[in-house]
Amino acid sequence: AAWEKQVRYSSTPRRPHGFSVLVTGAAGFVGTHCSIALKKRGDGVLGLDNFNSYYDPSLKRARQNLLQKHEIFIIDADINDSDLLSKLFDIVPFTHVLHLAAQAGVRYAMQNPQSYVKSNIAGFVNLLEIAKAADPQPAIVWASSSSVYGLNTQNPFSESHRTDQPASLYAATKKAGEEIAHTYNHIYGLSITGLRFFTVYGPWGRPDMAYFFFTKDILQGKSVNIYRTQDDKEVARDFTYIDDIVKGCLGALDTAEKSTGSSGKKKAPAQLRVYNLGNTSPVSVGKLVAILESLVNVKAKKHVIRMPRNGDVPFTHANVSLAYKDFGYKPTTDLATGLRKFVKWYVGYYGIQPTVKKETGSTDKHPDDS
Ligand code: NAD
Ligand code: UGA
Repeated sequence: AAWEKQVRYSSTPRRPHGFSVLVTGAAGFVGTHCSIALKKRGDGVLGLDNFNSYYDPSLKRARQNLLQKHEIFIIDADINDSDLLSKLFDIVPFTHVLHLAAQAGVRYAMQNPQSYVKSNIAGFVNLLEIAKAADPQPAIVWASSSSVYGLNTQNPFSESHRTDQPASLYAATKKAGEEIAHTYNHIYGLSITGLRFFTVYGPWGRPDMAYFFFTKDILQGKSVNIYRTQDDKEVARDFTYIDDIVKGCLGALDTAEKSTGSSGKKKAPAQLRVYNLGNTSPVSVGKLVAILESLVNVKAKKHVIRMPRNGDVPFTHANVSLAYKDFGYKPTTDLATGLRKFVKWYVGYYGIQPTVKKETGSTDKHPDDS
């Protein structure tokens, strides 16, 4: 069928010894950038995404159009669809899976907890079941999250630090993913690498994230809410630029060993790894707003809220020396530089003519507060 042809074409590498990678969540923010980077260097890429409406699906379709220009095909499917996934693995001998499909977002977990369980736990298990049964068994690189460090106050976070105090159900499902990865590695010899991304931002980003809607609200003259910690300190995030994250993902794929398919028999133990991918330089949310204000040349009205929001952690800060040692990961984009690129994309994508305004402010309810 035409569909099968597209699947084969998209996933066939165009360099000697190139990978054939299934990218789940390919219409997502990180998935789009990684898919393009892999394709550009000659790997075969097949995308998969269910195009759910957690945020504006038209943005996901626009990313899909972008991928199409790079001859990357995205299958419209859910990671819980076993039949479809087995069929794909029958057609294509994927060498790697870059598993980015998930229910992301920290605060939406209080509105729709089941969507986190379905995609981040059941969906991940389903994918691992398919991978374990595939021949060859692909190496898996997947997105965990900095949120697994939860209320830990060791600063900066290293991979060996405790992750048993998640502050949100989102974090708990990512932590569960790390434990599930352990069992599939242990029993079935799957090679699995978990990447703990730290608050990723950049062009084609996610509209549910603070930097994105702050930009929108500031440009529209609305006010922004800046939350503080339980003890009334500034909240900080180790905001990490998308290009750095892409390099980290490719580095992890490049150093992923093959699965050994041991299924309990005497073979070499398969690889099981977890890495921080952050920027190593936390910035407060107040500073984030100040940088955006100067980039769009609009002064925002700010509500400082002397309380944390449910599910938020007070700070994140990555120690990335392990990723540096194993695959040379080194973030190179500071927040002001990265946000400049984001704002440039934002005004282009939404066709906004930046205007110079002085003081703004309305008390519109925040989209995230509904
Ligand atoms: P995103 O929401 O833009 O991308 C995820 C994509 O997966 C979406 O396009 C969505 O439609 C798809 N998807 C969701 N559930 C699915 C399912 N059941 N079946 C098929 N497709 C499904 O998010 P992102 O920012 O690109 O994040 C990618 C990954 O990185 C996620 O696993 C996320 O949890 C993780 N992560 C992101 C950040 C960040 O700051 N962006 C930080 C830490 C971890
Ligand atoms: C982000 C992503 O949304 C998660 O998917 C991801 O897993 C996580 O990073 C991670 O690093 O693991 P978060 O850091 O909470 O989560 O990102 P935002 O939602 O963009 O919030 C950033 C900061 O802005 C937070 O400190 C939050 O408290 C603050 N914020 C948010 C405000 O001060 N005001 C708001 O109106 C919204």
